[in-house]
Formats: sequence, structure tokens, C-alpha cells
Amino acid sequence: MKDSSSAKGKKNRINLFIALALLAAMPITASSEPTTTDREFIEMQTSLNAIMVAAVDWSAHEVWEASYAETLTGRNWLTVKQYATQLLASGTLVSLGGNGRADQGWVNDPAWQEWTAAMIEETKEALRAIEARDQDRLRESGDRLVESCEGCHAAFKPTVPTEGIMHVPHHDYGDPLARE
Ligand code: HEC
Repeated sequence: MKDSSSAKGKKNRINLFIALALLAAMPITASSEPTTTDREFIEMQTSLNAIMVAAVDWSAHEVWEASYAETLTGRNWLTVKQYATQLLASGTLVSLGGNGRADQGWVNDPAWQEWTAAMIEETKEALRAIEARDQDRLRESGDRLVESCEGCHAAFKPTVPTEGIMHVPHHDYGDPLARE
């Protein structure tokens, strides 16, 4: 009698274990579309310092240059759209952080994520302005965009970049294929 009840208890525990394991395996958002973090992904292979210079700064300057350019050709609008898209995508990289030694400490701070969200939201507004081919709107968006850069830099950026990678001069804005 004693034996059989303890065997039953054991069986119940096993059932509970299986139920919990099944529950844990179920995605929480079972009804909605899977998101990018529901599956395994490849960790960033570079540092935030490098991403800032090679992606964020590079693409943002192209957006600002276009917003202040005297004229924008159809090709210029297409070009600036590519840069704004690059900036938008790099926002997620900034949110994730890379393999720089300070990166994970930064991304774990809620203020970091707030500044990143501000940058992403403003980049989306810049893209809407580009879609509408409205240069004034793009300029206003660019002015707000810089506030997200400066706000985050004031809070987090060391005076000397951790890897010594600094802003590099960008090429002049313009259509390299344009003929006078
Ligand atoms: C969420 C925070 C955050 C946002 C938003 C952000 N940055 Fe940064 N940025 C940093 C940090 C932190 C560093 C320093 C990285 C290091 O030293 O490893 C940095 C470094 C840089 C650097 C290289 C250092 C230098 O002085 O040349 C440039 C250039 C740069 N950012 C440009 C920008 C621009 C342009 C934007 C906006 C479009 C921007 N950043 C938005 C946090 C941010």
C-alpha cells in the first residue's frame, strides 16, 4: 500500500514535470507572428564603437547632408533612403550591443534603450519625410535626430572611444554619376 502510493506520487511528479516542460517549450506569444529573438541568432561580431562610426555616424551624416543639400535629384532621394534604412537597421544593433568591453554594461541600462528607441523613432520619421520627398520635413527630423545622439553621448560616451575608433570624414554629398 505504502509502496503503491509513493509510486503514484512519483508518477504524478513525472506528469507535472512533462506538463511544465511542454509549457516551457511553448512560445509565450503563441498566437502572434514569431519575432527575431524567438530563434537563435548570431551574436554581434563587432563593437558598439565600430558600429557607431561605420554604420550610425556614416549613415546619419548622409541623411543630414541630404537634408541641407541645395537640390535633391530623384537619385539623391533614393540614395538618402538607403542611408536612412541603414541607420534604422543599425538602431537594433545599438540596442543589442556588440563585443566591445563596455557594450553589455551599456545595453543593460534602461536609459540606453530609451535613447536608442528615440533614435529609431526619429529615423522612421526621416524615412517618412524621404518617402514624401519633403526636404523641410527631413531637415526638421534630422535636427531632432541629433538630439538622440547627443543625449546618449552625454549620458554614456567616454571622452576617448574605448577602441580609439573616431568619426572619419565622410565623402561629399552628391550624385557620383551625375554629369554637369
Ligand atoms: C544609445 C546610445 C547612443 C546613441 C543613440 C548614439 N550613440 Fe554614438 N556612441 C555611443 C557610445 C557609448 C559611444 C562610445 C563607444 C565606445 O567608446 O566604445 C559612441 C560613439 C560614437 C562615435 C565615435 C566616437 C567619436 O567621438 O568619434 C561617433 C562618431 C558616434 N557615436 C556618432 C553617433 C551619431 C551620429 C548618433 C546619432 C545618429 C549616435 N552616435 C547615437 C552611444 C550612442
